[in-house]
Amino acid sequence: MGRKFFVGGNWKCNGTSEEVKKIVSTLNDAQVPPPDVVEVVISPPYVFLPLVKSLLRPDFQVAAQNCWVKKGGAFTGEISAEMLVNLGIPWVILGHSERRLLLGESNELIGDKVAYALSQGLKVIACVGETLEQREADATMDVVAAQTKAIADRISDWTNVVVAYEPVWAIGTGKVATPAQAQEVHTSLRKWLATNVSSQVAESTRIIYGGSVTGGNCKELAAQPDVDGFLVGGASLKAEFVDIIKSAT
Ligand code: G3P
Repeated sequence: MGRKFFVGGNWKCNGTSEEVKKIVSTLNDAQVPPPDVVEVVISPPYVFLPLVKSLLRPDFQVAAQNCWVKKGGAFTGEISAEMLVNLGIPWVILGHSERRLLLGESNELIGDKVAYALSQGLKVIACVGETLEQREADATMDVVAAQTKAIADRISDWTNVVVAYEPVWAIGTGKVATPAQAQEVHTSLRKWLATNVSSQVAESTRIIYGGSVTGGNCKELAAQPDVDGFLVGGASLKAEFVDIIKSAT
């Protein structure tokens, strides 16, 4: 059984209710491959989750961009996994590099977040990726392995985990990884999973690429055997996101 292609749209901290309605209307009208070919997950800011969920076509799903590390309570400003489940939001993005770098989220905290979110029934897009300095120091796989290990040490069931490799130097820069660069890290990550978790998990876990994906570069990237889809930022707010969904192989 092959890995179903997966396309996530991470809207980050963007949008107004009017803009959200326009984007969702474009998505609802899009001619895209059926759900048995591609899984599409849209991730708006928290405040628009109910609106997007209420308007979005039923064959697309919704994700939060983060959630708290444990049960809710006196944690001002946080959103718990239980709240997302209560809202009927099935997915959550965790470990995005912007939260690692801007908010200091550690590998260990992200591992705990992934474990707790899964325990509450959420499905997780877990982000990993190196900075330019780390790549230039030839430490890419050391970094990505450490980030993945912090998750692997805390979970046993990978069924509801999608791993997103997002090189920090490609996020928001227009400097997309070459297909060969993406394939190299995806293959190494899959080998890491085979060695450190199991061959079944390595074969079945989708590893998706994120970092300056556009309608113009998605096809070549999608053609790589270990690229199982995308996590798209800027382009997910534009009509070209439909082209990226159509690149499903
Ligand atoms: O989570 C996806 C995001 O980090 C990629 O952003 O704008 O480079 O597609 P962008």
